Amino acid sequence: MGRLYGVIGDPIGHSLSPAMHNDAFLHQDIDAHYEAFHIKEAELADAIQELRAKQIDGFNVTTPHKETIMQHLDEIDDLAKRIGAVNTVVRRGNRLIGYNTDGIGYVRALQELSGTVTDKRILLVGAGGACKAIYFSLASVGAKYVDIANRTAARAQAIVASGKLISRVFTPQEVNLEAYDIIINTTTVGMYPQVNETPVLVQSVKQHAVVSDIIYNPFETKLLQDAKRAGAMVQNGIDMFVYQGALAFELWTGIWPDVARMKKLVIQKLG
Ligand code: ATR
Repeated sequence: MGRLYGVIGDPIGHSLSPAMHNDAFLHQDIDAHYEAFHIKEAELADAIQELRAKQIDGFNVTTPHKETIMQHLDEIDDLAKRIGAVNTVVRRGNRLIGYNTDGIGYVRALQELSGTVTDKRILLVGAGGACKAIYFSLASVGAKYVDIANRTAARAQAIVASGKLISRVFTPQEVNLEAYDIIINTTTVGMYPQVNETPVLVQSVKQHAVVSDIIYNPFETKLLQDAKRAGAMVQNGIDMFVYQGALAFELWTGIWPDVARMKKLVIQKLG
């Protein structure tokens, strides 16, 4: 019998992960199948028992379980601990081990466009779970200058206080966008159907700036449209999604998948 993988979440019907991973298994000639499991919040503990009984080889974790899953696992990787959330689980023997590939997936995708991030001036907009994942992942690859702009400054302060970087905190209105090489939206502002909204108003940017959005619906948010007009290089959230999946695939199989193929498939499904 082939290996079993999957994703747990609620809702889960529209997840692109099954198509992306099943195609990658096929392409790599790996005898494995990836399924979507619809698990409600109250069912999590039982579901994990069932997945253990099925000897599932690994799974992704999405909303609303990324934080609560942690108490049901046998071990948590350091970066996932720092982020306080798990999106990928690997079974080793009878042990389930939690990882977070969201933030580091985002960073890998960003580096494809921006090159090394260590000396770049970076601004994260927002201070929710996605911001936290990216903040600690940037720190883990050696980024030194990472600031946060958020409507509720206290949430940004809390992230900064739990890390080791010296970061400044602003509100979206007061931050000077022209001071940054990389600006990243980690909020849901601008996502369909609120397509006319933007988390920060970009009018002009530093030379060679990269503006990046974790949103991929629409492909080009108002933020990215404004940024392009101001002369920035832009990147939407598709790459982050693909790279978090590629890193999970690598944790499960030891093989780095064909990310260009994954990306093409995801764009096809979304288009
Ligand atoms: P997630 O965990 O998925 O990242 P979240 O915890 O709901 O989501 O965080 C969403 C982020 O988007 C938060 O930083 C939120 O700002 P607050 O901390 O002030 O709540 C931000 N956000 C959401 N809607 C917003 C809006 N209309 N304007 C500005 N910021 C918004």
